[in-house]
Amino acid sequence: MTLLKIARMGHPVLLRKADPVENVMDPAVQGFIDDMIETMHDAGGVGLAAPQVHVSKRIFVYYVPEARQEEGEDAPSGVRVLINPVLTPVGDEQVLRMEGCLSIPGLRGWVPRYMQVKYEGLDREGKPVSGVARGFHANVIQHEADHLDGVLYPMRMTDLGLMGFDAEASRFLTPETIAGQDV
Ligand code: NI
Repeated sequence: MTLLKIARMGHPVLLRKADPVENVMDPAVQGFIDDMIETMHDAGGVGLAAPQVHVSKRIFVYYVPEARQEEGEDAPSGVRVLINPVLTPVGDEQVLRMEGCLSIPGLRGWVPRYMQVKYEGLDREGKPVSGVARGFHANVIQHEADHLDGVLYPMRMTDLGLMGFDAEASRFLTPETIAGQDV
């Protein structure tokens, strides 16, 4: 396996709409997925989309750490691969979520996200998968699916005052200090 180089904000690959994967079982695609998973773990991320490693294809990998699972959240265990995903909001309720991104190191911000989303796509064997994601699971797949459409989280933010460097954000941009902010 190979660690892949992560594209940072400003690189055009992050702003491009990625292409669908035609043959999931292609050994090159399978090897690339292994490399993505290794790269995500090495970088300490919970999700990684193919454009973030300079490959403009509709693939992302992610997992929901046990500590981030919320009550009533039926999150998958272990790393999940989603290919050619389609996300549909369930209802229009949104919530602010603190996000960071491996392509925007050192920063984080509060981003409006749907509380629940339906997802459909293919797993790494090419089998259809679908479900409804809530909580952190819903958060991470909206962030990763955005990468496939050339959207980075600051582009979703409605108040850039809620973005900051890690140390300052964890000190000043806490759930308590942003309470009452409109989504
Ligand atoms: Ni990201």
